[in-house]
Amino acid sequence: MTIHTIHTKPIDGQKPGTSGLRKKTHVFMEPHYLENFVQSIFDGIGGVNGKIFVLGGDGRYFNDRAVQVILRMAAANGAKRMIVGRDGLLSTPAASNLIRKRKTDGGIVLSASHNPGGPEEDFGIKFNVPNGGPAPEAITSAIYEASGSISEYRIAITGDVDISCLGKSKLLDMEIEVIDPVEDYVALMEELYDFDALRALFANGFTMRFDALHAITGPYAKAIFEDALGAPDGTVLNAVPLPDFGGGHPDPNPIWAKSLVDEMMSGDAPEFGAASDGDGDRNMILGRGVYVTPSDSVAVIAANTDLVKSYKGRVKGFARSMPTSAALDRVAEAQNFDCYETPTGWKFFGNLLDSDRAQICGEESAGTGSDHVREKDGLWAVLFWLSILAAKRQSVSDVMQEHWRKYGRNYYSRHDYEGIDSEAANGLMGALTDKLAELPGTEYSGRKITAADEFAYDDPVDGSRAESQGIRVFFDGGGRVVFRLSGTGTSGATLRVYIEDFESDPSKHDREPQEALAGLIEAADSIAEISKRIGRNEPDIRT
Ligand code: G1P
Ligand code: ZN
Repeated sequence: MTIHTIHTKPIDGQKPGTSGLRKKTHVFMEPHYLENFVQSIFDGIGGVNGKIFVLGGDGRYFNDRAVQVILRMAAANGAKRMIVGRDGLLSTPAASNLIRKRKTDGGIVLSASHNPGGPEEDFGIKFNVPNGGPAPEAITSAIYEASGSISEYRIAITGDVDISCLGKSKLLDMEIEVIDPVEDYVALMEELYDFDALRALFANGFTMRFDALHAITGPYAKAIFEDALGAPDGTVLNAVPLPDFGGGHPDPNPIWAKSLVDEMMSGDAPEFGAASDGDGDRNMILGRGVYVTPSDSVAVIAANTDLVKSYKGRVKGFARSMPTSAALDRVAEAQNFDCYETPTGWKFFGNLLDSDRAQICGEESAGTGSDHVREKDGLWAVLFWLSILAAKRQSVSDVMQEHWRKYGRNYYSRHDYEGIDSEAANGLMGALTDKLAELPGTEYSGRKITAADEFAYDDPVDGSRAESQGIRVFFDGGGRVVFRLSGTGTSGATLRVYIEDFESDPSKHDREPQEALAGLIEAADSIAEISKRIGRNEPDIRT
């Protein structure tokens, strides 16, 4: 076996976005593309000599090939050990857990999250740091810089390593440890939650449906809900991970998990429904006849931490991404806790969790999590909800009604305009920025603007500053509209418009969100000139 040093040239655009580097799969498969980026990760973190890493991915198309390349490159670069999920599989939260538990120097996760998979679809790779969380900006910038000056990469020339069986082997001097991707994660969930109480819930006939969307959480969900908690076979749907996720988007929202939503809205729906995404960090929560928005979900979890023993009495603060609704802030206010507002992307929660300033975090994009790992965690959120339902003995719908009566309701919706022309998108954001100063005091659709700004974040722990994180427009009565461009797309631009309004009157808590928000939706279109500038009258997706 020999080590080859391959000469290469920088490839444009290897800039990590909101969550790692995401491109079309065929781009990753072009000569040197993956290798250049992997070497840039290694160089950007100061080399891997003598270091230990976790490696795995969501099983999408090219996952298997990429794992082999990374193992050969890690060996050639002098890594001491790679801890790999069997068959190269690991959910994002399971990887985060292993990085922490095994005290490694970080990990490489192969995933494009909820984006579709396949040769014509998306692939991604992200580096997580030793705390288990996504690399912060200082490190992603160093990786990007390394990609701009790369001249060679090192790779071992050898056949494929067999990673289909548990156990240890060697590649050059590097040890490869193949582990069960599910085991440690299930053990962590058992530490956090009262499995006896949850077993009793199912033993009493509680009905649930979990849709794994043909993605990574299938084996995890089967092990937890059906094997450990005794839920009947068939509770977990689409449980076998497929390289193309069965042709859909593994995105747990009312569009891509439509059949689950339809079932939950039907007459004989189960009591509880949930789904997760490609790599297992997102979640969707449903009850019989009700869809819980992610912003509400994190608020309900935050309001009920005392119902779960491992959180009882030790929670002091929350954090949410800026576009997430202020439902969480209301819970924080009532409990006299801090609630941090961070830019979009889980990496911004890392310092708050590490420094124990926040223990529960959430994003409007179906991301919920806590300090048990440093990623959002879909199954963790589902188990939290189950624990709430078991303790309260209420339906999801009753839990929501009670929550809104106590804290008020933040009506919320996100409108996505996908695959739009990048220039038009930048033009729209530029024009919005230019008119920020003149917005306060003006009226749109009968609502007065009280403030408008471009969001920037100063990290209270390391003092770093993130600028240009989206435009916020505030209205009287607690209304808000936010505009930002996606940082995870792989073609064109995606404009995200986040609309929110507050309603304290319980007699008005039963409205349809699009209807309750109609005035602000119209205002958002006029303020940003959406139809005029990007030529669309309707968003592609409303969540
Ligand atoms: C999207 C979500 C964001 C999430 C990220 C990774 O990023 O909006 O909340 O952290 O995916 O799952 P965006 O495409 O908006 O940059
Ligand atoms: Zn994801």
